[in-house]
Amino acid sequence: MKSAVARGVLEVVGRPAGPAIPPRPDPAALLSALPVPLLVLGSMNRFRFANHAAEQFLGISMAQLTQLSLADLVPEDNPIFQLIEQVRSGDLTISDHDLTLESPRLHKTAITVQGAPLPEEPGSVVLVLQDASAARALDRQLTFRSAARSVTGMAAILAHEVKNPLSGIRGAAQLLEGSVAEADKELTVLIRDEADRIRDLVDRMEAFGEKPIERGPVNIHRVLGHVRRLAQSGFAASIRFSEIYDPSLPPVFGNRDQLVQVLLNLVKNAAESIVASDHATGEIVLTTAFRQGMRLAVPGSDHRMHLPLVVTVRDNGPGIPGDIRPNLFDAFVSSKPSGSGLGLALVAKIISDHGGLIEVDDRPGRTEFRLHLPMMIEDTTD
Ligand SMILES: Nc1ncnc2c1ncn2[C@@H]1O[C@H](COP(=O)(O)OP(=O)(O)O)[C@@H](O)[C@H]1O
Ligand SMILES: [Mg+2]
Repeated sequence: MKSAVARGVLEVVGRPAGPAIPPRPDPAALLSALPVPLLVLGSMNRFRFANHAAEQFLGISMAQLTQLSLADLVPEDNPIFQLIEQVRSGDLTISDHDLTLESPRLHKTAITVQGAPLPEEPGSVVLVLQDASAARALDRQLTFRSAARSVTGMAAILAHEVKNPLSGIRGAAQLLEGSVAEADKELTVLIRDEADRIRDLVDRMEAFGEKPIERGPVNIHRVLGHVRRLAQSGFAASIRFSEIYDPSLPPVFGNRDQLVQVLLNLVKNAAESIVASDHATGEIVLTTAFRQGMRLAVPGSDHRMHLPLVVTVRDNGPGIPGDIRPNLFDAFVSSKPSGSGLGLALVAKIISDHGGLIEVDDRPGRTEFRLHLPMMIEDTTD
């Protein structure tokens, strides 16, 4: 109704002297031109509509499809049915990654499916399908496994190079602890604890990739609080922090120390970007939120995990230099004179080990790293 009115106004008013406003394209023509497979399923999952790309994707014409239901193409235990039911019953938009649509008629692997309800037609569901190559181009959700591999190669060297000086630092802090004023003791304890954490991390890096990580319930707000305190007592002392948390968030299913490492690396980058730009009102915003609908296969298993917890680290620095953007998560990629370029590679590796995802969204004055993490109660209903 609204669009009809708007179109009418454009037609009547017109602007003969100025540039002509082109008429709005016909929605049906638009859908058929859309280079992304799009389907509408009605009740009993019968095909009601398929655009041209969907016909090609499935290798079946629209005329044939309307005689079929999805169960004629895909076995009924396929997770896509679960997704459709969730969309129907919850009125939610849900995406599922790395699905396999396998049957005598169809062979598609690594498909991303997004489902959304069609409010005008209760019970109908819109599906958008993407194969992996299209998803790669369209999708900036990056797990960067290759980056992780190049870190693996460095792990042994790093472990060796880091451990010796570290035990020196730890020992010195312990000595100081005996002689500093009571008020400063907190700092020496901090040094000792952090040295221990690095040592643990290095121990784990030595077995990078081989060892399954120990995971349990992690309170992400405590992790963020710890990271913020570390930052504010050191490299981010002059920067303002804001926290926008969802206090009802359930625990992350993860490894506490590794998540501290991830967030510390992100906050450190944010702070360094602000400091380097001489930003007078530098600000880092930490947020947590719950988001229905993101699911991903767990690496190395046919388990599917919900990723409903979203943790973001945002800064108002100048953004990521364009030339390093494509390789941002690779090891040794750095725009800093004395940067190691290892921070984000490690972040990518840890998040990938957690079965999570990381996204980057950057515009001048607003750089955001977004983590999608699994919650403690896993989805076991494939
Ligand atoms: N918040 C950010 N703002 C701007 N650039 C960033 C941000 N985070 C990361 N970068 C860019 O990504 C590069 C790689 O980061 P990282 O892997 O942590 O290595 P390093 O910090 O040692 O340079 C940085 O050198 C910087 O150019
Ligand atoms: Mg860094």
